[in-house]
Amino acid sequence: MSEQQDHAGAQVAVLGGGVMGETLLAALLASGWSSHQVEVTEQSVARSDDLAGRYAVRTGARNATAAARADVVLIAVKPQVVGSVLDEIAPVLRGGTVVVSVAAGLPLSFYERRLPTGTPVVRVMPNTPAVVGKGASAIAPGSAASEGHLVLVEKILSTTGLVFRVAEKDLDAVTAISGSGPAYAFYLIDAMAEAGVLLGLPRDLATRLAVATVEGSAALAAQSGDHPVVLRERVSSPGGTTVAAVRELDAHGVRAGIVAAAQAAADRSRELGSQYAG
Ligand SMILES: NC(=O)c1ccc[n+]([C@@H]2O[C@H](COP(=O)([O-])OP(=O)(O)OC[C@H]3O[C@@H](n4cnc5c(N)ncnc54)[C@H](OP(=O)(O)O)[C@@H]3O)[C@@H](O)[C@H]2O)c1
Repeated sequence: MSEQQDHAGAQVAVLGGGVMGETLLAALLASGWSSHQVEVTEQSVARSDDLAGRYAVRTGARNATAAARADVVLIAVKPQVVGSVLDEIAPVLRGGTVVVSVAAGLPLSFYERRLPTGTPVVRVMPNTPAVVGKGASAIAPGSAASEGHLVLVEKILSTTGLVFRVAEKDLDAVTAISGSGPAYAFYLIDAMAEAGVLLGLPRDLATRLAVATVEGSAALAAQSGDHPVVLRERVSSPGGTTVAAVRELDAHGVRAGIVAAAQAAADRSRELGSQYAG
């Protein structure tokens, strides 16, 4: 299907109603799809009932049934389940149905090998802040995905945060920065809070100060557009407290640690992907 200015009457199947599945479901409803256009498949009956109750969407357990009537199929199951889900839906997909997957690591070739020739596929690397509308997603098109399909996916994801187009070869790097990145930010928050406790602050106050500081700094960086070095220099007065702190970060190799962490994540992403390539 093409760009969704005309998505009245179109159907979407969200396969997998976990954390990401629910985030996509909420994004669809927030971006103008109505609940009767969306169906979610889920293996757990309790979870299925929960989603049906809260979002008033149709839910079921059969991926093939949902995919057969869908114009857009969003795959949100764990990577190790994606192969069997594709085998279920491949025989019933209608020509033109676009398949969008958020599964980490699986290359586009993995989907294109299992789906009917010419099926448009779009790979998405989202991150967890999408749950609160502050995500950063990257999307990469398969060989049959058109500009219209990318615009469609951008619209669906628009309420989850920022969306960037990349070539598939860059998704390992994206995974290392924005996919795994929330864990680095939580690590920083935790370390700052721990330091606050060490310095005598109550844990709750230390944690709230750390969270608000990271959130506020990110907002300032995003709004000002200034280079992070400029922003850092602005809070580092000569001979002051901040410059003393930053010297310790450098002395302890924190910057090098972050670079090494991202490199390890990219390597691991490549390694996991190569298991499925071909
Ligand atoms: N969470 C993230 O931050 C994040 C970020 C980037 C990418 N992703 C990708 O998003 C995908 C989903 O991750 P998640 O964190 O949302 O996992 P999750 O919470 O475990 O969700 C997966 C859901 O799929 C259901 N499921 C399992 N087998 C199924 C089947 N055959 N048909 C339909 N539904 C099935 C599971 O139900 P049961 O629990 O009953 O088995 C579960 O509710 C993964 O591929 C992951 O790589 C997630």
